[in-house]
Amino acid sequence: MGQLINGRELADKMQEEMKQEVSQLAEKGIRPGLVVLLVGENPASQTYVKNKDLAAAKIGILSKVERLPETISEDELLEKIAFYNKSEEFHGILVQLPLPGHIDEEKVLLAIDPKKDVDGFHPMNLGHLFVGNPTMIPCTPYGIMKMFEAYDIDLDGKRAVVIGRSNIVGKPMAQLMLMKNATVTIAHSRTKDLPALAKEADILVVAIGRGHFVTKEFVKPGAVVIDVGMNRDENGKLIGDVKFDEVSELAEYITPVPKGVGPMTITMLMYQTIEAAKKLK
Ligand code: GUN
Repeated sequence: MGQLINGRELADKMQEEMKQEVSQLAEKGIRPGLVVLLVGENPASQTYVKNKDLAAAKIGILSKVERLPETISEDELLEKIAFYNKSEEFHGILVQLPLPGHIDEEKVLLAIDPKKDVDGFHPMNLGHLFVGNPTMIPCTPYGIMKMFEAYDIDLDGKRAVVIGRSNIVGKPMAQLMLMKNATVTIAHSRTKDLPALAKEADILVVAIGRGHFVTKEFVKPGAVVIDVGMNRDENGKLIGDVKFDEVSELAEYITPVPKGVGPMTITMLMYQTIEAAKKLK
């Protein structure tokens, strides 16, 4: 059985340090603030947003959730963003994705002031990342890099495979590992013979969004396996993209679901909100 990468424990440790920093900033009259814009009633989004709110409260970050109706027009949402771009109270703006179909997601992300884009989804911030000079970094891949650091997992010269090509996880994850000198392949649902490719990986990051998709046939003995999945099984239980019970027998390191990547994503969001507050003051 491989070693567990305990995201919950690392997140708690980092959040404790951030709490100290927030109290030091308070002495200088700075209180980091994060506003979350939540459109509609998507149940997964509700859970994310609730967890973000709890973490902010624990650290001492001012946090506001602006709940907007599913029927809000694109222009109204853009006006909200313009308002928070100007606000001195909020240093971070997060628009919870996915948005309803009638709203153009790219237009919305482009409207956020890149300095307040604590999610790192603005094309300008993604551009900085892709030229190798990151400013704001998407929080899930960023949190995974912190896990590698904390567990002394060296990427230099390693074969890394990312399953999933989203703008918010797969692509930035590949780039961050490339910056640490890994040889990176991005695979996805259309990749031919995915198990054979995945089996070449020293580092396997799975973000495909299908419960228990990765079985032991995908994993080289001694690999590091990172599970970004957040799926519900038929009983409503939270499960990852990786079949943990069998894969953990082969892997050297593995993240669980829950208590793996999820808490680190939220931690990096808080971290970037504090960084934004320091820069904007
Ligand atoms: N939807 C799922 N994950 C995320 C996230 O990290 N940020 C935002 N804004 N939306 C999401």
